[in-house]
Amino acid sequence: KSDPRLQGISEAIRVVPHFPKQGIMFQDITTLLLDHKAFKDTVDIFVDRYRGMNISVVAGVEARGFVFGPAIALAIGAKFVPLRKPRKLPGEVISEAYELEYGTDCLEIHVGAVQPGERAIVIDDLVATGGTLSAAIRLLERVGAEVIECACVIGVREVKINIWIACFIPNDMPFRD
Ligand code: PRP
Repeated sequence: KSDPRLQGISEAIRVVPHFPKQGIMFQDITTLLLDHKAFKDTVDIFVDRYRGMNISVVAGVEARGFVFGPAIALAIGAKFVPLRKPRKLPGEVISEAYELEYGTDCLEIHVGAVQPGERAIVIDDLVATGGTLSAAIRLLERVGAEVIECACVIGVREVKINIWIACFIPNDMPFRD
């Protein structure tokens, strides 16, 4: 049985056709952030899922994982660790490349932000191919963390990466103008 909060969350997400390019149905979470109840419900769903699981690291993926991750971290008593695009973090970093439709990009983590054996979750707004989350998992595993789960607000039903991803809003709307 689905969570009664999901409908309001889903309705608060604006879908923008052909952004940033032709054929893409962009899922815009900025409208969700304007709706206090929908925003709070979103954070609470993550918190309900991860509270009491002895998670000490909430890793957020730049940029929109930074919107949800810190609120979740505070509520479950974990630290927040930003996973950033290249050349943004000032300290010593390790990097993981991932495939884009054209070319590659990279995520970085500060060395020392996570200790070996820490239990981590990864938060982002949306999963599409899973390439970004896969890079996030590799980074956390390289620093010795145990990645318990990844979670996104919006996702596709079948994502072929080697970990469970919790998604709350299905991103399976057919493209239409
Ligand atoms: C979007 C989204 C995820 C990623 C998902 O970020 O916020 O991070 O794409 O795609 P994937 O599952 O195919 O890897 P984007 O690349 O637009 O970066 P931004 O948040 O910095 O704008």
